[in-house]
Amino acid sequence: MVQIDILTLFPQMFQGPLSSGIFKRATDRKLVGISIHNIRDYTHDKHHIVDDYAYGGGAGMVLKPEPIFEAVEAIKPDVPAEDGIEALRIILLTPQGRLFCQQVALELSACNHLILICGHYEGVDERVREYLVSDEISIGDYVLSGGEFAAMVVADAVVRLVPGVLGSEASPIDDSHATGLLEYPQYTRPSVYRGWAVPEILLSGNHAQIAKWHREQSIIRTLERRPELLDKANLSVEERQLLSQAKSSLEGR
Ligand code: ADE
Repeated sequence: MVQIDILTLFPQMFQGPLSSGIFKRATDRKLVGISIHNIRDYTHDKHHIVDDYAYGGGAGMVLKPEPIFEAVEAIKPDVPAEDGIEALRIILLTPQGRLFCQQVALELSACNHLILICGHYEGVDERVREYLVSDEISIGDYVLSGGEFAAMVVADAVVRLVPGVLGSEASPIDDSHATGLLEYPQYTRPSVYRGWAVPEILLSGNHAQIAKWHREQSIIRTLERRPELLDKANLSVEERQLLSQAKSSLEGR
């Protein structure tokens, strides 16, 4: 079982997301355990103060180190390490972190325990970064008011990769980005809707031809929308040929 602990100042923000969809499915099936912890519960003063003024001045408050360290230390021993599985990552969500992508989601889904700490953009005491966390992750080059939505994004992308969560009917293998390419176009019934027909090949029942069409469409779509992804994609000689054909026809448009 994969355990995800989320440390936040706003536990109620997680109520909706955790009680439906992928999170509910994964936790109901006991494939994933998700616990939300209020950082404020790890303060010792009467007013449960979690932030303070920045040394040296400057705008905004800074999250104090003590409650964050104490929360992580209280959570840590609950999950024993399993042989061969990377045990624990302690991750701070921050716009200064490593950019999150499918590769990072895959890497994290191989761990058996993640602790996600929701930072706040005014700042977190630097000693949390230096002496507590193993990773800092950003979900994109923009600033959110806190790490909560980022933690949900990371948890969602990771949880769906945990074996058994998606069930046998769906597979994350063909997902956009899983192959290094964007996913091919998808269709379902009816085969003709308002006069718009589904590509004939998909109705042919010829699995080899369909697989080829899927790969071609992925390449064309990636070329049109995210050409920079093609530099890193693992393409066969035949696919490289297809790519140059697609490039010339795009240029000729
Ligand atoms: N906290 C604020 N902005 C963030 C971002 N872009 N990614 C992760 N955590 C954040």
